[in-house]
Amino acid sequence: MTAKRSLPLAQVYRLIEPGPVVLLCTASGGRRNVMTQSWHTMIDFEPPLIGCVVSEANYTFAALEKTRECVISVPTVEIAAAVVGCGNTSGRTVDKFQAFGLTPERASLVAAPRIAECYADLECRVIDAKLRHRYNLFVLQVLKAWRSISRKPPRTLHHMGKGRFMVAGRTISLPSRMK
Ligand SMILES: Cc1cc2nc3c(=O)[nH]c(=O)nc-3n(C[C@H](O)[C@H](O)[C@H](O)COP(=O)(O)O)c2cc1C
Repeated sequence: MTAKRSLPLAQVYRLIEPGPVVLLCTASGGRRNVMTQSWHTMIDFEPPLIGCVVSEANYTFAALEKTRECVISVPTVEIAAAVVGCGNTSGRTVDKFQAFGLTPERASLVAAPRIAECYADLECRVIDAKLRHRYNLFVLQVLKAWRSISRKPPRTLHHMGKGRFMVAGRTISLPSRMK
């Protein structure tokens, strides 16, 4: 049995933020940028579709709306300070690649950069932005995916709110019908 207490509704997100925390890279008008993101979800297997919520207040929102493409990069705990930094500054005033020591790499199908220090990079195109003003929601299709050749489970970050993160790493295998 787990003893429980009532939780304010405003804190629900702290229980089910899916993770991993990702870095959403864009390039618009000759400016590259990267934003920290944890509100995203898989929508379909193949082609892979991802829904992601990007606040209209963020510089990234305008870039996504205009260029309709991005890269989602998956960071690990080794670059946690940069991940938090990219979530607390805006590309309007800061070149975050330079400020946080991230190395941009050319993507193959989109203009937005990949990130050399990340475990994985997903080159994406916006396929549906109809709900962007209502829910800040963009639906992305992954066009090309890159993953580290390392076999070690990535120590990804999972946001618990207020600057706290769980760090993944340990894996277990159980019988399952899921893919
Ligand atoms: C751990 C973490 C998770 C975040 N998740 C999101 C998110 O899912 N959607 C969003 O719009 N902003 C999110 N943010 C906030 C943006 O990263 C932040 O507003 C950033 O400064 C926007 O950068 P930009 O103006 O360069 O686009 C998150 C920040 C942190 C630290």
